[in-house]
Amino acid sequence: MLPIAASTYAPRVDVLFWLLVAMSGAIVLLVTTLLVWFSTKYRRGTKAKRGMLPTRFTREVEITWTVATFFTFLFLFWWAAAVQTANAPIPKHPVEIHVIAKQWMWKIEHPNGQREIDALHLPIGVPVKLVMTSQDVIHSFFVPAFRVKQDVLPGRYTELHFTPDKVGTFHLFCAEYCGTNHSQMTGGVVVMTPEAYARWSEAQPQGDSLAQQGKALFTRLGCAGCHVNSETVHAPDLFGIYGKPQPMTGGGFKIADETYLRDSIMLPKQDVVAGYAPIMPSFQGVASEEDVVKLIAYLKQPGAGR
Ligand code: CUA
Repeated sequence: MLPIAASTYAPRVDVLFWLLVAMSGAIVLLVTTLLVWFSTKYRRGTKAKRGMLPTRFTREVEITWTVATFFTFLFLFWWAAAVQTANAPIPKHPVEIHVIAKQWMWKIEHPNGQREIDALHLPIGVPVKLVMTSQDVIHSFFVPAFRVKQDVLPGRYTELHFTPDKVGTFHLFCAEYCGTNHSQMTGGVVVMTPEAYARWSEAQPQGDSLAQQGKALFTRLGCAGCHVNSETVHAPDLFGIYGKPQPMTGGGFKIADETYLRDSIMLPKQDVVAGYAPIMPSFQGVASEEDVVKLIAYLKQPGAGR
């Protein structure tokens, strides 16, 4: 049987799954029936007619089953693609949670600065957007109850969207072989009622939000030195940068999303903003993935970069 369905997306996947089971079952039944029927009818010694079929008839049969199969597969492709893409758009006003995978654990960073390892607490009914990266090899974030799975890659961000709609604790697995303890890279997603979630949240150590920590890093790592009111170094102004198109040296624009901001910090030579010299040093090895997550959280704030 399927695992319990605990997200708004899960029923769509299940319908597709059962449709595929039903169609495969029907075809197995048809083929088996024909197999048994023909084996009986044409077995040695029966008086069945054994000559060639008329060509016209064979042609019609060939065309019918080829065309029918073609359209059946097109229909299945369309359905599966529709289910897949239904989960792609970012929901309105999601909670954005950062996931950093490493051998062999899941590190979760909530926007208010709360941190968890191998556990993710969520309120029921609230759309969630996970922004995920890995600090070593490829992992895969898999919650069967939500019917979602997404690879988590070093050096870039991948996203996962879902809305949990059942209270409970659900398995979190790593679904990409990532070394010796891959099988132990598991955790639990705890979906709670709003009241229980509020109580849980209250009980966590209270600290600075991710954005506040990012702001401190922005100064400590020296970003502010060049990017804020600098008279000596000419660096792009980062005020309100998130989500805005940035003109590139060599033409074109890039939207300043999470990946763009991450690349600009870790691989600054990759996308140089038009009109600026490629002088920014890479922060690879200086800033950790957690630091980058915090810096991005800060840069997403309306007043950031001033
Ligand atoms: Cu991480 Cu398998």
